[in-house]
Amino acid sequence: MSKFKHFIAVIALTIISTVGLYALFRFFLFRMPAQASREAVPIDQMADFHFMLQAFLFAVIMVIMLYAVYAFRRQPGDDSDGPHTHGHTGLEIIWTVIPTMAVVGFGIYGIVVLTDLLDERPGERTIEVVGQQWSWQFIYPDAGNKIGSELGLLVNEPVLLQMYARDVIHSFWVPEFRVKQDLLPIGNPEDEITYQPLRFTPTLEGTYIVRCAEMCGLQHSQMFATVRVMNQAAYDDWLETTVTGWISVDDIELLPDMSPEERGAFFYTYFGCSGCHALDDTPGLAGPTWQGLYGRERELSDGTTVIADDPYLYESILHPNARIVAGFFANTMPDNFEERFNQFVFGDADQTTNDLIAYIRSLNADEEAGAEAPAP
Ligand code: CUA
Repeated sequence: MSKFKHFIAVIALTIISTVGLYALFRFFLFRMPAQASREAVPIDQMADFHFMLQAFLFAVIMVIMLYAVYAFRRQPGDDSDGPHTHGHTGLEIIWTVIPTMAVVGFGIYGIVVLTDLLDERPGERTIEVVGQQWSWQFIYPDAGNKIGSELGLLVNEPVLLQMYARDVIHSFWVPEFRVKQDLLPIGNPEDEITYQPLRFTPTLEGTYIVRCAEMCGLQHSQMFATVRVMNQAAYDDWLETTVTGWISVDDIELLPDMSPEERGAFFYTYFGCSGCHALDDTPGLAGPTWQGLYGRERELSDGTTVIADDPYLYESILHPNARIVAGFFANTMPDNFEERFNQFVFGDADQTTNDLIAYIRSLNADEEAGAEAPAP
């Protein structure tokens, strides 16, 4: 075969391999979830461009190597030495300059896309996001500073999340939105909060899950919250039916005038108990439900039983590893609530804990008013 034919064969094989590898990457190995934000478009384009380049580079190297191994293999009876080659200055310059330009080009491309993503958007709604082991809280400054464990967003409305963490680093990540941002701990509670901003515009109505993308302890993999992207009508309805029932951060001032049960209900959300303890029979949470909990006999992991009375609940809130309910694990619940309650502007650990117990006790009363207490 002439030199020209080898050249044509290598080019043809490289094109076929590039297309095949690109299809493999794009449609089988690295399939993307739905594009649910405006930001997903440029990010996916960039990822797509990477796939193309990777497919081409892998193809060109493998095709030339395998083709050379096959086409220029030693012929039977040929015992002579192969041709002696030295370096090739022109070739070396080419394979230094082209990859350098490609890497620098991608760097510039990345900076342009990132700058665009960080830019302020006109009319963006601000929502505060608080991460803690192992739950998410969302505070709505334009809805009376209501605080809840669900993120509700209006479709096609730009949003600015102002985020921080109460304990360790967490990371806000909804794969469908493509963007991701770490939440940094505030450190000293008296210090001013440093917010980490994250901007995006959801474009696809639906329900998504925010997951934590930074290893933050034992229940890191369970640190989820629901994200709802809604149209105007559904959003208004959600504000009306769901958010209205939430507590407001502004109510902290009203705490001294509330009943212990009301304060306990506030703390249940405020301190993130709701992340692991349901008030109904939702399965799969990291901690036992509070439904019908008060006064019930609990089977512990060491085989003994205990009645969930005031002293037991008190111990379980402040020293969660002392006794573990069967079916749950030690070192799951953070062991720092005594400190956190003491640092809280109102009340001390003792009072806050007793308020939570009063709330747990009141849940039984609610139930007795309704139906019989359900089985555990
Ligand atoms: Cu929070 Cu991982």
